Amino acid sequence: MTTTGAEPLIVIASNRGPFTFKTKKDGTFQAKRGAGGLVTALGALAQQYQVMWVAAALSKSDRDWALHHPLQTVQGIDLKLITPNKEDYDRYYNVIANPLLWFIHHGLWEIPRHPLITEATWQAWQGYININRAFAKAIANSIQDETRPVIVLPQDYHLYLVPQFLRELVGDAVQIQPFIHIPWPGPDSWRILPAPMRNAILISLLHANRVGFQTQKDAFNFVQTCRFYLPDAHSHGSRDSIEYKDKRVQARAYPISVDVEKVLAIANENQTQLLQNQLMQYIGGRRLILRVDRIEPSKNILRGLEAYRGLLEKYPAYRGKVQMLALLVPSRMEVDEYQTYLKDIMATAGLINAKFSDELWEPVRIIVGNNYHRAIAAMQISDVLLVNPVADGMNLVAKEGALVNARDGVLLLSEFAGAFFEMGDHALTISPFDIHSTTEAMHRALQMPPAERHARAEALRATVKRNNVRHWFENQIQEEAKP
Ligand code: G6P
Repeated sequence: MTTTGAEPLIVIASNRGPFTFKTKKDGTFQAKRGAGGLVTALGALAQQYQVMWVAAALSKSDRDWALHHPLQTVQGIDLKLITPNKEDYDRYYNVIANPLLWFIHHGLWEIPRHPLITEATWQAWQGYININRAFAKAIANSIQDETRPVIVLPQDYHLYLVPQFLRELVGDAVQIQPFIHIPWPGPDSWRILPAPMRNAILISLLHANRVGFQTQKDAFNFVQTCRFYLPDAHSHGSRDSIEYKDKRVQARAYPISVDVEKVLAIANENQTQLLQNQLMQYIGGRRLILRVDRIEPSKNILRGLEAYRGLLEKYPAYRGKVQMLALLVPSRMEVDEYQTYLKDIMATAGLINAKFSDELWEPVRIIVGNNYHRAIAAMQISDVLLVNPVADGMNLVAKEGALVNARDGVLLLSEFAGAFFEMGDHALTISPFDIHSTTEAMHRALQMPPAERHARAEALRATVKRNNVRHWFENQIQEEAKP
């Protein structure tokens, strides 16, 4: 591969691709744009740049599509789907990535009992290696005749081993910049992972030119983790770079954001207005406390419900006057912990309703499903938006809510969401473990004078508008790697 001064080719690699395919009756395929923040964020940028996207085929139709289309342009993106061995894929996704790595990153294991690293986990680790190798090979094959400069952006914890495998295949000519969407915890959290797995991940990431994180805290934690576990890694006092075997690897913060124009356009669509009317009819004149999340233990939905129960208990005047609405998107239901979590949410909400409901009022309404228009519609009319994760890389709901809300709604924001570093000054801060203070924050938000609400809401909106997702992407590809 030779490089010229031309516009670079951007290669995005992620587990979940930008499209899913459906086989039509006549044997042709229909492409549907996938859900999820990453896809939305990156998909919008393909119009501006030459983008190739390498992802895994997730369904039977995806696999069939991949068989017929080794590399195909779909809605402006050159798409390549790899078709992994199913057993390897299951081990990589359902055992190693979710839950093992995800739970370590978000501090979710109940350490006295879990996880159990068994022989099956080690077999699953081999699956993780195989899938990462397959990604690296697919990327290397796709760029072998490329004459433009190439920047490869492997996304997230599914693909930690790609930098090293890819480097071994393509050498130093290619710029490799993984981006990690989830929090990077400090060295102690990584003791759960056996040393060979942990070191393989760290060493692979140090084959990149630069590793991107959501916040400076995550970048700093990464530097510390490498220093702590790898005798050859040094930072010489730097918080955002590591020297490893004569190479300097940067660790930088690129806080992700939303596609501002697109979200605002969706907020104005008829469909959104229709859904908003339906919601308003249901809510009546009550004040709306909203949450929108994937069904995900790190989102702390149970403690959010307990805090709401506390509000109704301690301040009976709110009974019949407030409505909690939780819009919950199903996620990773193949993983036991997620199924159990959903059951616990429904049980807790049921108990709150059983205790406080009257003939006209259901205190908590849970809607399970994936309807982005409905989520935006609800965010427009919420009085309080509850974002209380125990750990979260960024949390785009906080940003979407601040952008589209039309009622000077108050944001209750966990200090452990990445968004806190940008938005914390104008939100009410929540310690996610502290149910008592979360109740009090709900009360304060509901009592806040209009002028203060307005000032906070305006400041939050301006913050989100300043850091569009385009900046996030451009900062990563335009900033020259320093030696
Ligand atoms: C969330 C996380 C991302 C992650 C994605 C994977 O959106 O914030 O960091 O890549 O989930 O979700 P999936 O549904 O593909 O397991």
